[in-house]
Amino acid sequence: MSKASAPGKVILFGEHFVVYGVKAILAAIDRRITVTSQTVGDSVIEIRSDLGASKFGLEEGTDVAELRPFEFLAKKMIKEFAHRGGIKMEIESEIPHGVGLGSSSAACVAAAASVSGLFEKYSKSQICELAIEAEKTIFESTSGADCTVCTHGGIITYGKGSGFERTEFEPNFSLIISNSAVTHSTDKIVAKVAEFRDGNVETFDQLCRKESELIEGAKAEIKSGNPQALGALMGQNQEYLRQIGVSNESLEQIIRVSGSGSHGSKITGAGGGGCIISIADEGSVGSVLGSLERNGTECFAAKIDYSGLETF
Ligand code: PMV
Repeated sequence: MSKASAPGKVILFGEHFVVYGVKAILAAIDRRITVTSQTVGDSVIEIRSDLGASKFGLEEGTDVAELRPFEFLAKKMIKEFAHRGGIKMEIESEIPHGVGLGSSSAACVAAAASVSGLFEKYSKSQICELAIEAEKTIFESTSGADCTVCTHGGIITYGKGSGFERTEFEPNFSLIISNSAVTHSTDKIVAKVAEFRDGNVETFDQLCRKESELIEGAKAEIKSGNPQALGALMGQNQEYLRQIGVSNESLEQIIRVSGSGSHGSKITGAGGGGCIISIADEGSVGSVLGSLERNGTECFAAKIDYSGLETF
């Protein structure tokens, strides 16, 4: 038996603008997905998860689209290690699905570690590469940023041309994550932003420049561990996201409710639905959660996870 877990993630700053070359800042959060794998004598792959269950022969495939990364990993490892038999996997998740919190990347990272661990101990970098390959079976154009932060944990800056850099500072901010419960299609919202850009080239370029400056400021405030300043930058980032048309009334309402008690809030991920993150002082987290709950908003407190992938 081989067991591994990986954290989910939030985008602290820079979503959408990252598609056009601006840097983004991502952080792993202390909500995890755990995958347990074992080899079985029969030539079958069996996958059990909250998204569905599937059992099929090695010549067949799963009919549950979301389970394709796990099928890919099991088949790849069976071939690589000439395993005579099959693999059974169980996926347990603490991360809401389809709302931009990295559930599919965390699952790919945990599954890559769990399945490869049945045969050999891979390095974290090897596991991350394998997880990105697996995630491409469902998100062809993934940048790999999510799998990277889910593997290594902590806070990373990511730029299209410049790759990844994990910050050496480990401030432990208190985040509040509110789920609008509206699942979003990242592809559709990215296409909507492209349309906005086509019609507003100058405004968009100006926003990209402003976002780049904001990211530099955010990096400095992460280093100094200043939640108040980061909250103000989140509010500013949200204004840029509004201007490119990815916010909506239900997200703005959540931002208003979390406003008193937190230092600032913004969309995390593609927008259109999905989640809002807020940053607060530890002592105010309870009251912000209370206000959100009274508003009927599903929410939870999160800390930044600095461990990343763990194997057992
Ligand atoms: O909602 P998510 O976690 O899929 O985030 C999308 C982030 C975008 O910047 C909107 C797209 C991208 O590929 O970076």
